[in-house]
Amino acid sequence: MRYLQRIALPAVLLLAPTPIDLGAQEPTFGGAGPARAANDRGGVSAAALAGSKEDPVAVDRGGKLYATNCAGCHGAGARGGVGAPDLVRSVLVLDDEKGILIAPVLRDGRPDQGMPRPNLTESQIADIVAWLHVQTYAAGHRTTYAFQDVVTGDPKKGEAYFNGTGNCNTCHSVTGDLKGIGSRYEPFALQSRWLQPRGGRGGGRGGRGGVAASPRSIITVTVTLPSGQSFSGPLDRIDDFNVSLRDSSGDYHSFARDGAVPSIEIHDPLKAHAEMLARYTDADIHNVTAFLVTLK
Ligand code: HEC
Ligand code: HEC
Repeated sequence: MRYLQRIALPAVLLLAPTPIDLGAQEPTFGGAGPARAANDRGGVSAAALAGSKEDPVAVDRGGKLYATNCAGCHGAGARGGVGAPDLVRSVLVLDDEKGILIAPVLRDGRPDQGMPRPNLTESQIADIVAWLHVQTYAAGHRTTYAFQDVVTGDPKKGEAYFNGTGNCNTCHSVTGDLKGIGSRYEPFALQSRWLQPRGGRGGGRGGRGGVAASPRSIITVTVTLPSGQSFSGPLDRIDDFNVSLRDSSGDYHSFARDGAVPSIEIHDPLKAHAEMLARYTDADIHNVTAFLVTLK
């Protein structure tokens, strides 16, 4: 569980206060209209459900399982409870793709840290993961919605943030990979895109907002055996007992884990993005989007 604990840590350290009451309002998407109330799908609105591209039947089952198995500690809307963290702003949950990061926690629990091992089947775990993805989707879009007047920021300040505090220029270039990004997306979509580039919990299947997951965002792993032989490729799955991947020739490899053997190195190109999400101020979000919009 070492890896999970490491990536989970920033969720606790970086929880920035937010001026938006995420629980209070549900935005309507794609136009004006009265805010709609959450329906009975475990607090999942129809808009968030549709946008998330999760299977509604799985989400429905997941919401019920969540209510009985998890809500007591993590709160009815997964926004945290006494002693249990907010899952909607958890880096681990936000950065999850297809349950790769969440499922190990649900298989094993974290008994040492106050989360008992839930007694769930793999398909129940998948259902809860689907429900959690809809929650983070709704939250991300609520943030976006509150700033839907996206082009009111100051592009100059956004540029300064991009090249300064935000360190965006260490990975991106406005004349390289981000060239013309302001023409490729509408401002609203552009904002979601830089806030959560993994683009969706269903990432592999086309992702959020219809943008396919790009090869640059794939989580990879290198497994090195005691003999020195090593295998690298996109991570398929990891938990305390196993790690599996597909190598460059498409061959599938699965290894049993025993403590630190074999040695495992995980690389998530979007880890920085997930961590930054909790750190942006409202002004940063305004300004950076206003700047990106100018990159025609
Ligand atoms: C008895 C209380 C309790 C119950 C029940 C419980 N959890 Fe937890 N959960 C916790 C605590 C405490 C932590 C923080 C553990 C830590 O610090 O590593 C946690 C951590 C997590 C994390 C990791 C979050 C992160 O950012 O690292 C996930 C995901 C999670 N729980 C999901 C669930 C789900 C889904 C259920 C229901 C199947 C559930 N939990 C049931 C107490 C609980
Ligand atoms: C540690 C490296 C890193 C940092 C720092 C970083 N990004 Fe990214 N960013 C990535 C990766 C990797 C992707 C995924 C690229 C892809 O999918 O093609 C990405 C994707 C994006 C995208 C979507 C690009 C597209 O074509 O859809 C935008 C926009 C973006 N980042 C903006 C930012 C901004 C703004 C910042 C600073 C606040 C930032 N990034 C900081 C690594 C980084």
